[in-house]
Amino acid sequence: MAKVKTKWVCQNCGYETAKYIGKCPDCGAWGTLTEEKEYKSENTNQNIIKKDENPICLINEIEITENIRIKSGYEELDRVLGGGLVQGSLILLAGDPGIGKSTLILQTAGNICRQNKKLIYVCAEESGSQVKLRAKRLNVNSDNLYVYSQTNLEAVINQTDLIKPDVLVIDSIQSVYTSSITSSSGSISQIRECTNILMDIAKNRNITVIVIGHVTKDGNIAGPKVLEHMVDTVIYFEGDKYKSQRILRSIKNRFGSTNEIGVFNMEDSGLEEVKNPSELFMRGKSESAPGSVIIAASEGTRAMLIEVQSLVGSTSYPSPRRVSTGVEYNRLLQIIAVLEKRIGLNLSKHDVYVNITGGIEIDEPAADLGIALAIATCFRDVVVDPDCVIIGEIALSGEIRNVNNIEKRIYEAQKLGFKKAIIPKQKKKFSDEYDIKIIEVARLMDAIKVCVSKPMPVN
Ligand code: TYD
Ligand code: MG
Repeated sequence: MAKVKTKWVCQNCGYETAKYIGKCPDCGAWGTLTEEKEYKSENTNQNIIKKDENPICLINEIEITENIRIKSGYEELDRVLGGGLVQGSLILLAGDPGIGKSTLILQTAGNICRQNKKLIYVCAEESGSQVKLRAKRLNVNSDNLYVYSQTNLEAVINQTDLIKPDVLVIDSIQSVYTSSITSSSGSISQIRECTNILMDIAKNRNITVIVIGHVTKDGNIAGPKVLEHMVDTVIYFEGDKYKSQRILRSIKNRFGSTNEIGVFNMEDSGLEEVKNPSELFMRGKSESAPGSVIIAASEGTRAMLIEVQSLVGSTSYPSPRRVSTGVEYNRLLQIIAVLEKRIGLNLSKHDVYVNITGGIEIDEPAADLGIALAIATCFRDVVVDPDCVIIGEIALSGEIRNVNNIEKRIYEAQKLGFKKAIIPKQKKKFSDEYDIKIIEVARLMDAIKVCVSKPMPVN
């Protein structure tokens, strides 16, 4: 006989309690607790005392087994995953609805099947013919690709046992359910239980499971953080729905680094990987506009050049506006404060807008100097030499601090035909192996002097 257990679960954070309460004591959200019933079989204890497959042992006795990886067919995706999809791992691909998750996975599925691997694509949100239509449009076709329009996880497991695929895709975790608990699909309990079952499939049957998860308006994976720490890898697919660039970012990875990004472009014929993102982020750069500066950002193993734009104009508000897109707001305020104090720019009566083109977010301090120069040159209506790349972190004192991966950044600038790079003062002498002219600066004022094409008027 199965026992029925009633509990109240916060749909925001997964907090569980036996009684209804208005405010979740864990995440502080109001009215998010809903009643869920859970059927538990009485013989669960027997499962706990089953044979111990991984007995305790000394660390010296453990043999290291290399992870077997399946190539996704996209260098961009493989890099974010740390070199491909690890066999027997559970990967969560999260993103806003409509951003292109299903498209990315269907195209990847086509690539995987071409390597003679079997894949089941469970489309819990769409019918088989909808998937077929999309696959046709994306030119995805294979005898190894199975499509299963099913929301019941037990039925999926049955088919998985019959077909024995290498990869199982669940699109999406919010629309599948397990019969072992009664709460509706998409509820916290269902998502948690389904993910547990899928984790079990991945580990015990050595199948790579890719789970797609939608993100809520406030940026959490709907059915929330509980998912993130259960799975092996979490990747986010981001981008502006109205622009074509898409960024793949790893948030958690048990099998690789988390600071890699992958760049794609959404075209009419599906997603195209962008192997040289610098060209994309600088596309349409106007030759010599005040307030436009090229910086060299470093993401994981790769450097890329990105355009920073700034607009500074007199304000009509009692307190001036500071608006940043792609740059952390407090970082912008700090850079403005340094410009005011150390350079003497009076920005207190001016609105400042800063924008990173291409919809990418920059959170590394190496962009500081570029942002400062974009603001300063726009304010004074002078132009930064368009052949110049700016690299450096700004200290509150106005000094320029060194940044990591400086060589990689300079090489990227050189590769794309830039003539000059303004970089922080280096301890050791920089070798002459670069064709690009390197200008080392110690203070913000020095950087301003060397990069503007005509002298900047003083206040
Ligand atoms: P989709 O993969 O369904 O998004 P998600 O699974 O994240 O909800 O992608 C939907 C959007 O992608 C849709 O608005 C149209 C666009 N799209 C293209 O621009 N080109 C294409 O070839 C495809 C298949 C979709
Ligand atoms: Mg989808």
